[in-house]
Amino acid sequence: MNRYSRVAGTGSYLPDKVLTNAELEKLVDTSDEWIRTRTGIERRHIAAPDETCSSMAEHAARRALKAAGQTPADVDLIVVGTTTPDLVFPNTGTLLQQRLDIHGCPAFSLEAACSGFVFALSMADKYVRLGEAKCALVVGAECLSRITDWSDRSTCVLFGDGAGAVVLTPADEPGIIGTHLHSDGRYKDLLFFPYGVSSGFDKLRSGAVAGITMLGNEVFRTAVRTLSRLVDETLAKNGIERDQIDWLIPHQANLRIIQSAADKLGLPMDKVVLTVQDHGNTSAASIPLALDTAVRDGRIHRGQTLLLETFGGGFTWGSALIRY
Ligand code: COA
Repeated sequence: MNRYSRVAGTGSYLPDKVLTNAELEKLVDTSDEWIRTRTGIERRHIAAPDETCSSMAEHAARRALKAAGQTPADVDLIVVGTTTPDLVFPNTGTLLQQRLDIHGCPAFSLEAACSGFVFALSMADKYVRLGEAKCALVVGAECLSRITDWSDRSTCVLFGDGAGAVVLTPADEPGIIGTHLHSDGRYKDLLFFPYGVSSGFDKLRSGAVAGITMLGNEVFRTAVRTLSRLVDETLAKNGIERDQIDWLIPHQANLRIIQSAADKLGLPMDKVVLTVQDHGNTSAASIPLALDTAVRDGRIHRGQTLLLETFGGGFTWGSALIRY
């Protein structure tokens, strides 16, 4: 049994196409000023027609493996958090495994909306700690542009595509100090995608418009409240003080939600990794994308303490406390 897992490397990928707020002004009745002041978003990346969740995941995974000094052949577990899989099955983890040309290790995806990466990280951490994996690939990847109603101004300005990945390896010291996950289906009607396999793709065939459906105000209020409780829980359960956090790496949905979490921690915004302005909300991809961005631009150093926190449809929410 290993005592802990650690993040050995990070990687990410963004599609080439950038969609700016100015371009959205031509699609729906909105303005750059409205989008920036309400959400902090300035642009987002959109997958090309031939890109999928697993193709973006592959780029991020290869970069994370390289950063970790590992090769695809070393990988013995793949967990992908996504709500926009390539197919109903095979699962996106297995499609990623095939793309990496490795065969046989467990590979699967899980759905927890925007919390998918933190849920996947928590699961992979346990495999590594139990000695059941020595090189776990953990990915958050989303192609939200394919489930966005581009005529709905209240949602289409929010989302983007991309992927992020980390490689977890065994360690004698943490690494992943703790993860804390929650779900509550009472909130299912506040943020959802209205069609699925068993509830009826046939409705879609009848020509109904399909898109992410959200009661934005309610989601906003619940997210702020819930993330505040989550910060308290994470600090208390791990016996650490707010001033021991070097970086907050929040789910990148809305700048104002992020600011309220930073306030709760007493952290200045220059200790918060912000990518929402450039990526929009990439759901399960947003945290590993932000993490990789700050690792690669030199802000995050080995030995620093990172707090990852997320909130998404379900609702699902969770945190990971990491010594990088
Ligand atoms: N451009 C211009 N106006 C818009 C708009 C857009 N893109 N989208 C909505 N509006 C309008 C609304 O129609 C409404 O107009 P009305 O007052 O004439 O009815 C007005 O702006 C205010 O809408 P409201 O929904 O109250 O705005 P808001 O301040 O709550 O901001 C969100 C909307 C979506 C930005 C905000 O609620 C939010 O970020 N919520 C959380 C979303 C989130 O994080 N989801 C993912 C969680 S993982």
